[in-house]
Amino acid sequence: MKNVAVIGAGVMGSGIALACIQSGYTTLLFDVHATALKNGLQYIKEQLQLSVDKGKSSQKMTEKALSLLKITENREDLKAELIIEAIQENIESKQALFLYLESINSLQSIFATNTSSIPITQIAAPLKHAERIVGIHFFNPAHIMKLVEIIPGSSTDPEITQKSIQWAKSLGKTAVLVADSPGFIVNRVARHYYVESLKILEENVAGIESIDLLMEQTGFKMGPFKLMDLIGVDTNFAVTSSLFQQFHFDAKFQPNRIQQQKVNAGHHGRKTKHGFYHYP
Ligand SMILES: NC(=O)c1ccc[n+]([C@@H]2O[C@H](COP(=O)([O-])OP(=O)(O)OC[C@H]3O[C@@H](n4cnc5c(N)ncnc54)[C@H](O)[C@@H]3O)[C@@H](O)[C@H]2O)c1
Repeated sequence: MKNVAVIGAGVMGSGIALACIQSGYTTLLFDVHATALKNGLQYIKEQLQLSVDKGKSSQKMTEKALSLLKITENREDLKAELIIEAIQENIESKQALFLYLESINSLQSIFATNTSSIPITQIAAPLKHAERIVGIHFFNPAHIMKLVEIIPGSSTDPEITQKSIQWAKSLGKTAVLVADSPGFIVNRVARHYYVESLKILEENVAGIESIDLLMEQTGFKMGPFKLMDLIGVDTNFAVTSSLFQQFHFDAKFQPNRIQQQKVNAGHHGRKTKHGFYHYP
């Protein structure tokens, strides 16, 4: 697989595209919103420069990586050997996108979803060729975090699963094969980091800064509220809601009204410069 297309230039899509060009893949980045595409490109350039400033790469490597990146606002361009979607966590949107991709790509193309919680089997269900869809789940920031969960759906061709593992390894990632169950492994376990912290906040046991500080002091790299702001409060809420539904409304996954209110207010975290914290 030499050509990759990444759909969605938000938090994850821009990081995934960056990981691809840094590993030598010709990469096409697409978004329905021109502003998102512009911001995504800016993020990629900033991160490449940061890597030079830290002495981790050279100006020449940055230029080489950027020469491999193309951006497009035209969805007819979305033809590639591997296409990874990183659009919002919504099953209807993802299914509609894959149905379109299926209509313009050859049977050789592999389709991957970066979903955090929606079963791969369910996303693939309406496709004529459900065997070509696989979950390739990156972690945030995608160009830095080593872990990638590889999730075959019930129809996924085992050869495609193996190719996905090899491809993730070619990006320098640690690929872990995971069964297609709600939230896979990391998001299922990590859900309680957010849900329980929000409950503590709601019960006035402690404030945002204190909870974050305490968790950081116990060894977590980021406190839960800082992490939700990094992930995107809206995306994090969508993932909790999805898990709540898939676990048959088990109360331990119940979304919190404080988070719902942040989403309604448009306080989605770093990407909107306002979430649980302000980012002037
Ligand atoms: N944010 C995280 O930390 C994280 C981590 C792992 C996985 N994920 C998953 O990755 C996916 C994307 O999350 P995100 O945080 O990057 O979201 P985001 O909101 O930052 O970005 C989504 C982007 O998709 C674009 N988009 C929406 N519909 C589109 C379409 N039909 N075609 C093309 N572009 C479209 C939007 O304009 C937006 O720029 C979700 O499924 C999420 O669950 C997120």
